Amino acid sequence: MAPLPGGEPRPPAVVIAPVDLAARVDEALAVQALAFGLTDDEIGVRRHIVLRHLLNPGARALGATTPDGRLVGFVYGMPNSRTHWWSTVVEPYLRRAGNDGWLDNSFVITELHVAPAHQARGIGRELITTLTDAAQEPRSILSAIDTESPARGLYRELGYLDLACQVHFPSAPRPYAVMGAPLPLRRHAP
Ligand SMILES: CC(C)(COP(=O)(O)OP(=O)(O)OC[C@H]1O[C@@H](n2cnc3c(N)ncnc32)[C@H](O)[C@@H]1OP(=O)(O)O)[C@@H](O)C(=O)NCCC(=O)NCCS
Repeated sequence: MAPLPGGEPRPPAVVIAPVDLAARVDEALAVQALAFGLTDDEIGVRRHIVLRHLLNPGARALGATTPDGRLVGFVYGMPNSRTHWWSTVVEPYLRRAGNDGWLDNSFVITELHVAPAHQARGIGRELITTLTDAAQEPRSILSAIDTESPARGLYRELGYLDLACQVHFPSAPRPYAVMGAPLPLRRHAP
């Protein structure tokens, strides 16, 4: 098994495939809690939000699953609409930067998380590239905590550029950056 660039070799057994995230929302939130840090209260709130998101037209999810059926990573997203809560929060920041056109004809990555024990093996990269490869839209947008995290590094490698920084979501303690990339996402140089 060849090592992936910059990471440990990935056990071939972790499979990336479409997942019924509504049915597995508790497992997904357990992954997110480990990867991102969520309190029990936040898990309860997120549960409702995820289930509502998945009802949006065009919402799609992929899971990373071990041979024994454990979910160890997931991604989901949907075609953006300016009427979505996320869009209404980021729109003034993007408009100020002259970038609000990115809200149209864009596929939003809503969540991407990989359990810590499975990180740095190419799973996050495969989840987001596989999901966006199937998008009808010519570009993708997302928000990430406005710091140089592994997530931000991954997004930059995939071609996401900052569209607005220091974006404040109500009740989120830390500011976010909004990033956008043309689709298909950039691949590693050969
Ligand atoms: C972001 C995340 C999903 C990436 O998943 P992953 O499976 O670990 O990522 P990959 O193995 O596919 O790595 C892809 C790239 O991410 C970056 N990356 C991954 N781990 C990193 C680390 N520890 N430090 C710096 N960069 C890192 C690198 O650019 C890497 O590319 P490389 O393999 O060419 O070096 C995962 O780190 C995670 O769940 N983090 C916590 C939750 C989170 O922040 N989610 C995003 C919310 S916006």
